[in-house]
Amino acid sequence: MIAIYPGSFDPITLGHLDIIERGDKLFERVIVAVLCNPHKQPLFPVDKRVEQIRQCTQHLQNVEVDSFSGLTVEYAKLRNARVLLRGLRAVSDFEQELQMAHTNKTLWDGIETVFFATATEYSFLSSSMVKEIAKFGGSVNHLVPENVARDIGIYYA
Ligand code: PNS
Repeated sequence: MIAIYPGSFDPITLGHLDIIERGDKLFERVIVAVLCNPHKQPLFPVDKRVEQIRQCTQHLQNVEVDSFSGLTVEYAKLRNARVLLRGLRAVSDFEQELQMAHTNKTLWDGIETVFFATATEYSFLSSSMVKEIAKFGGSVNHLVPENVARDIGIYYA
């Protein structure tokens, strides 16, 4: 079974990577799909995020990294995938994630959203938190993959 793991990944965190590693074990293929969102001003451009994710998932056999624009379910159809993979960190994620899962189901009945409970050590972690820490000069080495920490260091140097 092919699963799409859609997201902004700006930047990818160790929490995201944990979900990808676990998805790699469960699914035949996990396509990490970075959304091109023209309404958001990102820290890293989409191509850079794709490259960052490729680098830190090199060790995973069943993982592919791509970008997409438009509706996630349309991208899923294009890739013959019927599963959307999402991580749930806490109850606070639940409402929005449930809304997205239901909305996607109304758009295409063939799609199922599968939630992985995020590992407890990453349950507080988010890309926006990483950006905030980095902006104020804090270290994010323990929160993001090594290659991403390097890129963030260069960006804020
Ligand atoms: O990492 P994020 O920002 O929480 O990911 C959100 C994402 C990309 C999964 C969501 O915004 C999305 O699927 N956007 C694409 C547009 C879409 O399909 N919208 C309808 C479902 S809510």
